[in-house]
Parts: sequence; C-alpha cells; structure tokens
Amino acid sequence: MEALISIRQAELGDINDIIKINRLCLPENYSFDFFYRIISENSYGCVVAEIDEKIQGYVLSRTERPLSSFIGLQSIKGHIISIAVLPQYRRSGLGTKMMKYIMNKQIEHKIETVYLEVRVSNIAAVEMYKNLGYSIRKELRNYYRDGESAFHMEWGKEK
Ligand SMILES: CC(C)(COP(=O)(O)OP(=O)(O)OC[C@H]1O[C@@H](n2cnc3c(N)ncnc32)[C@H](O)[C@@H]1OP(=O)(O)O)[C@@H](O)C(=O)NCCC(=O)NCCS
Repeated sequence: MEALISIRQAELGDINDIIKINRLCLPENYSFDFFYRIISENSYGCVVAEIDEKIQGYVLSRTERPLSSFIGLQSIKGHIISIAVLPQYRRSGLGTKMMKYIMNKQIEHKIETVYLEVRVSNIAAVEMYKNLGYSIRKELRNYYRDGESAFHMEWGKEK
C-alpha cells in the first residue's frame, strides 16, 4: 500500500517529536520552551510532515515585524529557523513540500521577503533552497559555534 503523506500545521503536542528529529539531524538544538514559544506565536509558519500519521520532518519559521514596518518603511519578513527530515525519508520531497506549504501561507499573509541561514557545507539544503527560489545574498563568516560560515539566503523582493 502507498504511504500516506501529509503536511500540516505544527501543534504544541508535536514538540517532543520535533525535538527528537532536531537533535538527531542538526547540531543547532533548542529548549522545549523555545519550541513552545515559536509554535504558539507562529501558527502558520510551523509545519510537520507525517508519513502514515508519524512525524518525519518539520519546519519552524517566524514572522518578524521591525518597528519601521508599522510606518511602512520596512516590510514584514519571514525567517526560517529550523528544518529537518529524518534520514530515511530524505530526498523524497518532504522538505520541499513543507517549505512550499509555508511559502503559500507567507504569501497569503503579505510577507514579501523570507530569509534563512545555512552552513556553507550543507549542499543538500542550499540546493533545496535554490530550487525554491532562494538566492545567496551574503556569507556570514564564523556564524556557527564551531566556526563554520553561513550563507544568508533570501527569497522575495530584491533590496
Ligand atoms: C535539507 C533537508 C531538510 C532536505 O529535505 P529533503 O526532504 O531531503 O529535500 P527534498 O527531497 O525536498 O529535496 C529537494 C531538492 O533539494 C536538493 N537536495 C536534497 N538533498 C540533496 C543532496 N543530498 N544532495 C544534493 N542535493 C540535494 C535536490 O535538488 C532535491 O531535488 P531532487 O531530489 O529533485 O534532485 C534534509 O536534507 C535534512 O533534513 N538535512 C539535515 C538537516 C538540515 O541540514 N537542515 C537544514 C538546515 S539550514
């Protein structure tokens, strides 16, 4: 039987599964309270991918409203904070599907720019972001604790 894939908004009850995937897949880990805050404050920006009703991946993002956005000087921005898919389900489109789900919500909510940071060595993620329309805008030297640099990538309006 074909596996049933679904992408849905993350709920607070998903946090423990999200934490397990985050710790297994990424060196950047966060506290329960951090996940709680992000998911409660950014409903449509946080999603999970389920296969046969089991969570196999997640994306967390938040909406950033700089003070100057209130007087129209700057636009509201989206920020992709963390994304991961369990190794056994990679390269089957889950990452792309989750990112597209969020992108559609961001467009609905008039978000014009979305940005993220990614390790310069993370070819898989950089390629996925490029396919989704993100481009490398700058390199942030020694961005990560272990000294690795990051690419700052953006999707949306050119500055
Ligand atoms: C990055 C990650 C989320 C991608 O998720 P995924 O579900 O495997 O991605 P997709 O299947 O949607 O792949 C989309 C495209 O990305 C690129 N891509 C994905 N994995 C790749 C790899 N190992 N090598 C090269 N390109 C890759 C390809 O262009 C792919 O399209 P294709 O399969 O049609 O060629 C996943 O690799 C992951 O969880 N990595 C560990 C955590 C991580 O690095 N997170 C990103 C932090 S910024």
